[in-house]
Amino acid sequence: MAERFETYIEGFDDKLDGGIPNESIVLLVGEPGTMKSSVGFNILFNNAKEKKAKCVYITLEQSTGSLVRHMKSMGMDHQLVTDNLEIVDIGLIRQQLTDLQTDTWLQVFKMYVKNLKDREDYDILVIDSLPVLDVLAKFEDPREDLFHLFEWLRKLGITTIMISEMNPDSRSYAKHDEDFLVDGIIYLRMVESGGVSVQRQIRCVKMRATNHSTDFYSLMFDGGRFKTTKVIGDSKK
Ligand SMILES: Nc1ncnc2c1ncn2[C@@H]1O[C@H](COP(=O)(O)OP(=O)(O)OP(=O)(O)O)[C@@H](O)[C@H]1O
Ligand SMILES: [Mg+2]
Repeated sequence: MAERFETYIEGFDDKLDGGIPNESIVLLVGEPGTMKSSVGFNILFNNAKEKKAKCVYITLEQSTGSLVRHMKSMGMDHQLVTDNLEIVDIGLIRQQLTDLQTDTWLQVFKMYVKNLKDREDYDILVIDSLPVLDVLAKFEDPREDLFHLFEWLRKLGITTIMISEMNPDSRSYAKHDEDFLVDGIIYLRMVESGGVSVQRQIRCVKMRATNHSTDFYSLMFDGGRFKTTKVIGDSKK
């Protein structure tokens, strides 16, 4: 297995020293609608398709049907990679478990993740999303609980992409200091220009063991592929 997983965002992997280091925990964070789920799915879809990497996408907020339809409309047809990319809708078990103790909920979540690892031996996991996990697990001491959860994920020997949300008015990437706990942060935002148009942008805020750029890049989706270019009006390459 390679030492890094490419993001398959054209022009961005070069800025990440080739991609995300194996066995990292990376926060993929942005405001609503900044294409967090699409970027996360894009990483799994292309690694499953091109590298035959084993991948799991855990959806907690969007149903599998809605996710698959959205990704297909973007040219990422799940049918092409069903052997290597599994989508797990834990939202479904969440409805069945409403009467359970919240600590039991987190146990059930971990059991799912662990059983899948034993069965599929997957390499990359996307969890969509951390705020929903937070609500369902009702962490008592979020910083400590997240620390233990991240340590537990690290021991599984997988690369985890944790999708998270941030308020447009906030300057903080995290609610419970998870920005300090994770190995990497990729930030997605939308920027108004000229009072009319809005540009999507991407930035690697941090990535341990990686000589990466910290600049913003314009993020575009065209012909079924994500790509980045330097921000218009920015003279730096
Ligand atoms: N076929 C398409 N091609 C390009 N862009 C699309 C396409 N379909 C939807 N979009 C854009 O993708 C956005 C949704 O992407 P996605 O669901 O990945 O965002 P998100 O950040 O995960 O959203 P949320 O905050 O709701 O979880 C839409 O708001 C729309 O702007
Ligand atoms: Mg989403």
